[in-house]
Amino acid sequence: MSSLRKYLKQWEWPDVHDMRRNNKADPKECSTDFTGRLAVITGATSGIGRLTAYEYAAHGADLLVVNRNEEQSKALGEEIRDRYRVRCEYRIADYTRISNVKKIGQDLLSLDRHIDVLIHNAGVYSTTRQFTANNMELVFQVNYLASFILNYMLKDKLKERGKTRILLVNSEGHRFALSGIHLDDLRWDRRHYSGLVGYGAAKTAQILSMFKFTECFEGSAVTINAMHPGNVKTSLGENNGRLYRFYKHHVVNARARNPQISAKALFYLGASEELEGISGKFFNLTTEEKPAPHARDRAVAEELWKISIELGGLA
Ligand SMILES: NC(=O)c1ccc[n+]([C@@H]2O[C@H](COP(=O)([O-])OP(=O)(O)OC[C@H]3O[C@@H](n4cnc5c(N)ncnc54)[C@H](OP(=O)(O)O)[C@@H]3O)[C@@H](O)[C@H]2O)c1
Repeated sequence: MSSLRKYLKQWEWPDVHDMRRNNKADPKECSTDFTGRLAVITGATSGIGRLTAYEYAAHGADLLVVNRNEEQSKALGEEIRDRYRVRCEYRIADYTRISNVKKIGQDLLSLDRHIDVLIHNAGVYSTTRQFTANNMELVFQVNYLASFILNYMLKDKLKERGKTRILLVNSEGHRFALSGIHLDDLRWDRRHYSGLVGYGAAKTAQILSMFKFTECFEGSAVTINAMHPGNVKTSLGENNGRLYRFYKHHVVNARARNPQISAKALFYLGASEELEGISGKFFNLTTEEKPAPHARDRAVAEELWKISIELGGLA
């Protein structure tokens, strides 16, 4: 049986109904004081990441942001220090280079502070197939492989050091990869690439890796959860051609919400007592949901884990 047929048979209408209802809901909020605690946020120069940095800082958190743009990172740090009187450091990494990602991993390993919340937010949407410096498909590397490499490098240290909540900014878009991940064709050499399916496959990979990391953190105080931040108005997709941008500005954005809801949800998931000890779950904003069947395939998760270790040069 083809993987498409296998997964389609497992779809359940109540799950789709839940998703549609949750898409319209507001996130739960919490007012936990985060003073003296450290939040690491990737992709904080724009959209969801930027507002999430403000949200954590407004609750007293110190920040370490990982971005690819030095000038914007400097300006963001100054703005946050002035506005919220918290510490805000930055590190630079372009996720299209695995060497950059691994350097950040080493940096975080040698950090003399405990990481309370680690938010993997950096992401990209591409309508066309593009390749990274490492010859991988761009969206797969930026949205998935980079976060995998960092989590893999940090896992033992985090386990030793105590409580950390890892949050993966994922997407309901994972549902578009109806036939799941094609482990034998991660560069899309043998299939037609489409933006939605490529994005869905990368987000699916991240959910599958979450299940493996959950096993790995069992018995420790480290949790890992994935979330959909809402359909919100940000710069995502602005790197694409004029036609797509026209569609985005006039169709997608017309229905998109304010990314403030994503920031509130990410603070709730990182700080609320209600999430204490909860791991391996997928949330639509702050409501737990079942991911699509292809993102729950444990056999594929096992294989992907091994391949990701190889691709990241982590063996
Ligand atoms: N917006 C939505 O409706 C929506 C829905 C579901 C999921 N998401 C997810 O939410 C996350 C944040 O996206 P957003 O909507 O806030 O989009 P955004 O405004 O475009 O922000 C994306 C962030 O990722 C960074 N980034 C992009 N490519 C990178 C690379 N090669 N190396 C390092 N950093 C890179 C960007 O840096 P620059 O500022 O330098 O470009 C920016 O800081 C993504 O994972 C996205 O998939 C968004």
